Amino acid sequence: MNNYFSIQDIDCLNEWIKDAIKVKNEPLAYKTLGEDKTIGLLFFNPSLRTRLSTQKAALNLGMNVMVMSFTDQGWSLEYGDGIVMDQGNSEHIKEAAQVVSQYCDVLAIRAFAKLENREDDYSEKVLKSFIKYASVPVVNMESATNHPLQALTDAITITEYQKTDKPKVVLSWAPHPKALPQAVANSFVEMMQRMDADFVITHPKGYELASQITKEVPIDYNQENALKDADFVYVKNWSSYEKYGEILHEDSEWKITGEKMSITNDAKFMHCLPVRRNVVVDDIVIDSPNSIVIEQANNRTYAAQLVLKKILEKV
Ligand code: CP
Repeated sequence: MNNYFSIQDIDCLNEWIKDAIKVKNEPLAYKTLGEDKTIGLLFFNPSLRTRLSTQKAALNLGMNVMVMSFTDQGWSLEYGDGIVMDQGNSEHIKEAAQVVSQYCDVLAIRAFAKLENREDDYSEKVLKSFIKYASVPVVNMESATNHPLQALTDAITITEYQKTDKPKVVLSWAPHPKALPQAVANSFVEMMQRMDADFVITHPKGYELASQITKEVPIDYNQENALKDADFVYVKNWSSYEKYGEILHEDSEWKITGEKMSITNDAKFMHCLPVRRNVVVDDIVIDSPNSIVIEQANNRTYAAQLVLKKILEKV
């Protein structure tokens, strides 16, 4: 594997999940694989889990780690071809990507959707430009439309907790005061289509994700109906795809409550974090024994470690 850009880069999902669980059971088994190799983690947006879990994963493999925030430290980058750079951007991606490739053996990049222009975000300009101009493998730490490290984590976590061969998994939209990207939901939907799951999406009308991603997945606009008999409830807010980047209405009745969880089949509660308590989910749910968000976040390390291991085995 050269790059980990989306979950399409996972060739055999079942093998990957098994391998990630092996890595989790023995995280230092490959502690010299990355010796004398350096990973550069480049952030265009904030992070807690992705930054620290990817760093931990790299350290477990013996790699050196360099971290840089482009929000306040890097030059602002230009991506256009043939642009006269007499405006705000100071450095072109062509030089930036080639230069950092000389310092690093692997690059990992976080660059969220700006939610201003759908075509621009869905072109994945930042990640695809790094992949085009870098001479080393690139890992997606959440791009405009994808969060494949999170989705691999989610698949590992569901596998660890599932009690039946084909669990019912519900992705429920929940309210949020800020407009958020669709990346986590997109990758989770794509992942559930690859897993053996009875998968349903529930959200208010107007929050349909891109049809090229949801394909034939059933959408139920009645949240309580969707939650019936669920084994896993995965909760996430996203802004509208159709009215791109907009919050359509408040919809506080879509918050996940203890009452709603009681409709489920004693479901596990999942969220990628960070989460706004008592806006997205009530304390009583996230603090309950059925909440697996902390273990889910723990698995971020082993998803990242498996991806880096596969890349290191090729470089
Ligand atoms: N889930 C996730 O990506 O968390 P961070 O934004 O804190 O990295």
